[in-house]
Amino acid sequence: MTKICVIGLGYVGLPLAHAFSEKYRVVGFDINEIRINELNSGFDRTLELSEIQLKEALNNGITFSLDIKDIEDCNVYIVTVPTPIDSSNRPDLTPLVKSSQMLGKVLKKNDIVIYESTVYPGVTEEVCVPELERESGMKFNTDFFCGYSPERINPGDKEHTVTKILKVTSGSTPEIATVVDDLYSSVITAGTFKATSIKVAEAAKVIENTQRDVNIALINELALIFDSIGIDTNEVIDAAATKWNFIKLKPGLVGGHCIGVDPYYLTFKAEELGYKPNLILGARQINNGMGKYIAEQTVKQMIKNDKKIKDSNILILGVTFKENCPDLRNTKVTDIVDELREYGANVDIYDPWVDLEETKHHFHHELLDKNPFESDKKYDSIIIAVAHNEFVSLREEDFKNISSGKEILIDIKGIVQNPTWRL
Ligand SMILES: NC(=O)c1ccc[n+]([C@@H]2O[C@H](COP(=O)([O-])OP(=O)(O)OC[C@H]3O[C@@H](n4cnc5c(N)ncnc54)[C@H](O)[C@@H]3O)[C@@H](O)[C@H]2O)c1
Repeated sequence: MTKICVIGLGYVGLPLAHAFSEKYRVVGFDINEIRINELNSGFDRTLELSEIQLKEALNNGITFSLDIKDIEDCNVYIVTVPTPIDSSNRPDLTPLVKSSQMLGKVLKKNDIVIYESTVYPGVTEEVCVPELERESGMKFNTDFFCGYSPERINPGDKEHTVTKILKVTSGSTPEIATVVDDLYSSVITAGTFKATSIKVAEAAKVIENTQRDVNIALINELALIFDSIGIDTNEVIDAAATKWNFIKLKPGLVGGHCIGVDPYYLTFKAEELGYKPNLILGARQINNGMGKYIAEQTVKQMIKNDKKIKDSNILILGVTFKENCPDLRNTKVTDIVDELREYGANVDIYDPWVDLEETKHHFHHELLDKNPFESDKKYDSIIIAVAHNEFVSLREEDFKNISSGKEILIDIKGIVQNPTWRL
């Protein structure tokens, strides 16, 4: 009988464990004790599962543990640990290596290890498998097998949830590819696509996000050009998008755990093989520069309106990397804050979606602990950085009420009618 262990219970692992728990016995494993305790008490701080869904999983018999003994009797292990980059934008495979070493200690004959973390082509077979073999003393594709099935969920998206997104699968032998595919098709209602190899499946995922990054970079570059010309980028996009094959994207910050990170996995591999991926790296550079550009435009607008920058009060609305979601990993709002503080401005940041305690681990700036629209403090400039519902519903007079003198409204998300400047 199939017993599944999901290793790494974050944005990806928890919804997956929940989906499998409807049909299989499932153990969720994580090294974060706080996370395990919270999940056992029915609380998911990522807000990916509702209280009802988490209770459903617990009623289905799912267990959450940080004890390796609790995963020893599983026969399918699915790894959904983070794949970040280091300060030099190089892949940090430590969580994958460590979880593989741990799995090597519990692997039994005919077990299958499926990786879901986003990687460059080759990581499963060239980095993870050697760890599994070394720790277990068993032979790959004789004693144990592997699969790779990339995850496509989108944090905060309640429509495209894990079972509703077609899933790419693969296996280390044709037979295992079918076993892996059958396993996922039993819970993924949107269906599956069996890729021809593990490397192909790994590459498919990393190019999905690379393509998006490059396309956004093009729109960002256009925004910089149109800004100098003095025309509104959004108006240009609306006009161009009347052509059937124009890809309609908006300019903006590219943060988060995926789009701003995954391309570096591919460029790392390309450079290791002697190829310089100029287009992908150029796109990364453009997208990484947007925070500084927005800060500079804010300063420009303030000067144009006779406002002093040094010791001015600037309010930033939103810090998460996308709207209506508490995820602030790799948020680029931090670049706006850093740049404005360089100019000597006092910057307040408000985001009703984030947990202030957790913010301290991901963000080096303090956040306001109360709603600025309910306080007496006045701001010289307000930047709308994230389109949370709470900000979309604000009215012109709300901004006026907390502005000192003429309001300067910088709208990165295109949510207000008459901003002073928008991207
Ligand atoms: N977040 C997304 O929307 C998304 C979408 C598609 C793909 N991905 C990819 O999925 C992977 C996981 O992303 P995530 O967003 O779920 O990350 P996350 O940070 O939300 O969760 C990862 C979890 O793994 C745990 N962990 C770390 N090291 C571990 C170890 N050695 N053993 C066991 N548990 C360990 C952490 O404590 C954490 O709870 C990444 O490769 C990411 O690129 C993420």
